[in-house]
Amino acid sequence: KTFKVAVVGATGAVGETMLSILSERNFPVGELVALASAKSAGTKVKYGHKDIVVQDLATFDPSGVDIALFSAGGSTSKEYAPKFAAAGAVVIDNSSAFRYDDDVPLVVSEVNPDQVRNRPRGIIANPNCSTMQMLVALAPIHRKAGIERINVATYQSVSGGGRSALEELGRQTAGILNFQSPDPQRFPVQIAFNLIPHIDDFQDNGYTKEEMKLVWETQKILGDAAIKVNPTAVRVPVFYGHSEAVNVETREKITADEVRAMLQQAPGVEVVDDRKPGGYPTPVTHASGNDAVYVGRIRDDASHPRAVNLWIVSDNIRKGAALNAVQIAELIAAES
Ligand code: A2P
Repeated sequence: KTFKVAVVGATGAVGETMLSILSERNFPVGELVALASAKSAGTKVKYGHKDIVVQDLATFDPSGVDIALFSAGGSTSKEYAPKFAAAGAVVIDNSSAFRYDDDVPLVVSEVNPDQVRNRPRGIIANPNCSTMQMLVALAPIHRKAGIERINVATYQSVSGGGRSALEELGRQTAGILNFQSPDPQRFPVQIAFNLIPHIDDFQDNGYTKEEMKLVWETQKILGDAAIKVNPTAVRVPVFYGHSEAVNVETREKITADEVRAMLQQAPGVEVVDDRKPGGYPTPVTHASGNDAVYVGRIRDDASHPRAVNLWIVSDNIRKGAALNAVQIAELIAAES
């Protein structure tokens, strides 16, 4: 059996990676449709060795589409995902538009794959990139020892902000080296040679929405509203790959050695934890362009009897977005 697959946002940073991952993993595509805004209609995107002509989402008829992968922003998803679902497609949505709706499952393929079946609206949500990689690494710890509280600081690459954010880091970096002013447009302040402790909108409680996504999504995916999460989300001048310094407090005691041994067996995880220079994952040396969630710096928390520290790095565009969406599509394909 093959499937008619639509990629919505096919010209974007995530969309183009969805196309390449569908091809790399030999997803059973019968027909592939690439969709974006009217301004991209008629341009071409790569699907394996093929060039696919991009069509305008606004005028496209979704009937006959089996699976639609959406990554074109929340407002586009809100408007068009229900139309695709009504036409019979299973929608896998990378935006935050539906993630917190009770009747939309939020799925990390290694953590809660069974949830894909509970989709009364025909929509499955793909988690935020930072939550995704964190939970691939923490779910085994939660199952073994019960997570009570997570303290996390993220170091998030600019690709999470899409193509315009990648371009701004490139432009500013080159510009500053040539004595030009940074002229911030996509980010509120200079991102090249800087850090920005602000991703997505500020909330009434002082956290940003990106930080609250880590709270809400962790509780929903692990199915435990009692888990406490205290995040700080920071944008860093890295092109691809998010990193996270994570401190996990557990209900039962679990040692760093036990965590390391468990994660060596965990699906989707690669442990890189040699206590020597370079013996840890970084966005550039490990994550960028690769599929795994890399975990290093695993150590007991010297300040707490039931806590461990981890350093978690993954390609935010791949596992954090496009790869997990395709893995969900594979779960759907396996149903029939
Ligand atoms: P387009 O290139 O035609 O603007 P990124 O996150 O890298 O910026 O990519 C966003 C993706 O979402 C692009 O493919 C973009 O298409 C697409 N997109 C944004 N707004 C719309 C819209 N209103 N209708 C269809 N596609 C959209």
